[in-house]
Amino acid sequence: MNALIVGKGAIGSFLGDRLVENGWQVSFLTSSESAYFHKRVRGADVVFVAISTRDDGSAARAYIEGAREHNIPVVTCEKGSLANHFDALKPHLSQIGFTATVGGGSKILSLVTGINERTTRLLGILNGTLNFLFWKVGNKHDPHEVFEEAQKKGLCEPGNHSLAEAVHGELNDVKAKAAILFNVAGLSAEPLRPTDFSYSIPSAWEIARLLDRAGNIRFVVEIFRDTSSNHRFDFEVFQAKREGWLIRGNFVRIDTSNDDVLRGMAYLTREEKNTLIVEDSSGNLEARTGVGAGLEPTTSVMIEDAYRLLGLQKHC
Ligand SMILES: NC(=O)c1ccc[n+]([C@@H]2O[C@H](COP(=O)([O-])OP(=O)(O)OC[C@H]3O[C@@H](n4cnc5c(N)ncnc54)[C@H](OP(=O)(O)O)[C@@H]3O)[C@@H](O)[C@H]2O)c1
Repeated sequence: MNALIVGKGAIGSFLGDRLVENGWQVSFLTSSESAYFHKRVRGADVVFVAISTRDDGSAARAYIEGAREHNIPVVTCEKGSLANHFDALKPHLSQIGFTATVGGGSKILSLVTGINERTTRLLGILNGTLNFLFWKVGNKHDPHEVFEEAQKKGLCEPGNHSLAEAVHGELNDVKAKAAILFNVAGLSAEPLRPTDFSYSIPSAWEIARLLDRAGNIRFVVEIFRDTSSNHRFDFEVFQAKREGWLIRGNFVRIDTSNDDVLRGMAYLTREEKNTLIVEDSSGNLEARTGVGAGLEPTTSVMIEDAYRLLGLQKHC
C-alpha cells in the first residue's frame, strides 16, 4: 500500500515509521511542498493528514477535498477542518477516517453510531491533558509539579509556560472536539462550529481556585436535551444551543455531584483518559473510556481507520 502523509511532525513521523514497519511505501508532503499536493497524491492508496491547525482548518480541508477529488480515502487527526467545515466535508464522511480527532486511542467517537431518538444526554471527558492535570492535583499533588510532569509526558504544548496557559490551550481544543462530537452524532441539521459557543475563559486566578478545591474536579462536556440535566457545576466555560440541544463545557466536582452518572465518571476517568457516556430516556447507559492523545494510541487508530477504509484486515 502507498501512503502520502501530509505533515512530518511528531504524529506524521511516528505514523510513517509504523506504516513502513508494516510494509507500506510512505512519502511525506511538508508545508513548503503544499503546492505540489495534486502531483504527489497520484498513486497514493490513502492520504493521512497530520498537520497542526494554524488557521480555521482550511488548510487541512483543502488536503482532504484534494484527496477526494482523486477518489482517495483520507485519514485525519487534525480537528479544525471537521470542527469548522463540517458541512463541506459531510458528503465525503464515509471516505474520511476521523477517529483520532476526538478521544484518539479511546475510540469514543464510535459510541455515537448508537445514538437515536431516545438518546437524551452525552457526557464526555474529551481532553486527556486537562483530565491528567485535575486528576493528579485532586490526588493531593502540587500543581506546579503536576504541570512539569505533564510537560515531561508530552501532554502540554511546547509553548505553554504555566499551568494556566496549558489549561487555556486545552479548553480551545475541547471546544473543537465538542463541535465535532455534536456534528458527527447528527443531532442537528445545522452544524455547530467552535465559534458558535459563548465562551468564558477562566482567569489564572480562577484556575488556581478550581485546582485549590480540586477534589475530583474534571472538565466535562455535556450535550443534552432541554432540562434533562440540572446538576451543580463549578465553572461554565462554554455553551451553545442547537435544535433543542444544549451543549456546554463545565468544570464539575464529579465525586460529590448530585448527578449519579457524573459520580460514576470519577471511577472511569483517571490519568489522561478520555470517556464518553451516552444515556437514553430510560436511564440506559453506554460508556467507552481509554487513553486519548499520544503518539502510539493516535497513530494506532489512524492505521485502523486506513485499513477499514481500504476494506482490509489490519495486521499491525
Ligand atoms: N500529538 C498528539 O498526541 C495528537 C493526538 C491527536 C491529534 N493530534 C493532532 O495531530 C496533528 C499533528 O500533531 P503533531 O503533534 O504531530 O504536531 P507537530 O509535531 O507540531 O507537527 C505538525 C506538522 O504539521 C506541519 N504542517 C502545518 N501546516 C501544514 C500545511 N499546511 N501543509 C503541510 N504540513 C503542515 C508542520 O510543518 P512545518 O512546521 O514545517 O510547517 C509540522 O511538521 C495536530 O492537528 C494535532 O492536534 C495530535
